[in-house]
Amino acid sequence: MRHLLSAADLDRDQAVHVLDTAAAMAATQAREIKKLPTLRGRTVVNLFFEDSTRTRISFETAAKRLSADVINFSAKGSSVSKGESLKDTALTLQAMGADAVVIRHQASGAPHRLAHAGWLGASVLNAGDGTHQHPTQALLDAFTLRRHLRASQAHPDGVGADLAGLHVVIVGDVLHSRVARSNVQLLHTLGARVTLVAPPTLVPIGAEQWPCAISYHLDEVLAQQPDAVMMLRVQRERMGGAEAGGATGFFPSPLEYTRSYGLDVHRLRALPQHGIVLHPGPMNRGLEISADAADSPQSVIVEQVANGVAVRMAVLYLLLAGEKETWA
Ligand code: NCD
Repeated sequence: MRHLLSAADLDRDQAVHVLDTAAAMAATQAREIKKLPTLRGRTVVNLFFEDSTRTRISFETAAKRLSADVINFSAKGSSVSKGESLKDTALTLQAMGADAVVIRHQASGAPHRLAHAGWLGASVLNAGDGTHQHPTQALLDAFTLRRHLRASQAHPDGVGADLAGLHVVIVGDVLHSRVARSNVQLLHTLGARVTLVAPPTLVPIGAEQWPCAISYHLDEVLAQQPDAVMMLRVQRERMGGAEAGGATGFFPSPLEYTRSYGLDVHRLRALPQHGIVLHPGPMNRGLEISADAADSPQSVIVEQVANGVAVRMAVLYLLLAGEKETWA
């Protein structure tokens, strides 16, 4: 595999292999010296056309832990037309000898174009494109779910396992969420059962064809005792009217959204004891998740961030070094 553009690029065995590789990477991150020589002499470019905190830092950390040279290119604010600027940027990166380009772009499909237009010889990793895909987020979520819910005595990290039989509920602004789209695909590939919960206005047209169930009623779904609940951020910046507080037209008021779809400690009690809470960040505390739910012992939100580094190390390693090198 040369690029990672979508969660759909991975079949079950490939996904498990990435997660297993990430588990080995995570083990090296517990050492005092965290840096591995694996990608010495390789250049990874972080090309971010859209805001990001954890994804950009996570990819940068992952590349550096593998000893790659990292160039951060923050393209936000560019007013050149999309196709042209992307092509010119790609040609520049090609001339600089980039081996991998990690791209986040507000236009769905931009990473696909970068990978397949013939401008660039580098591997392309999609770090989030519009409302389309965010495959490494889905991988780090799967990694986190597996560690908590698929650990066995023989394999405390769940190595070798998929997510067959787990019930994962994804709640909130599905319409604008590349995280939800990537997760529905990857969780299905790994054998989990997925239920999406959202107000009807935030369920995309066509979602009834996705491999998941859809509900408008959070409490009813929580009563089914799901193994995990993934809360999504309300993406006001993609809703229009953000200046006026955002979200106009999608739900009556933030308070009503919270009442029907917010996770608080009261709703948390409906989860089984082993149930965990995920959120990709950044959180709107008090809107889709209460502060005490976010900080509860069942929340694995901070751990997701740490796992993101291991997963991105695994993806960079597998795309750039393949199986040829030993790094353990
Ligand atoms: C997500 C994203 O950018 O799609 N965040 C992330 O990568 N950590 C989700 C979001 O912005 O709500």
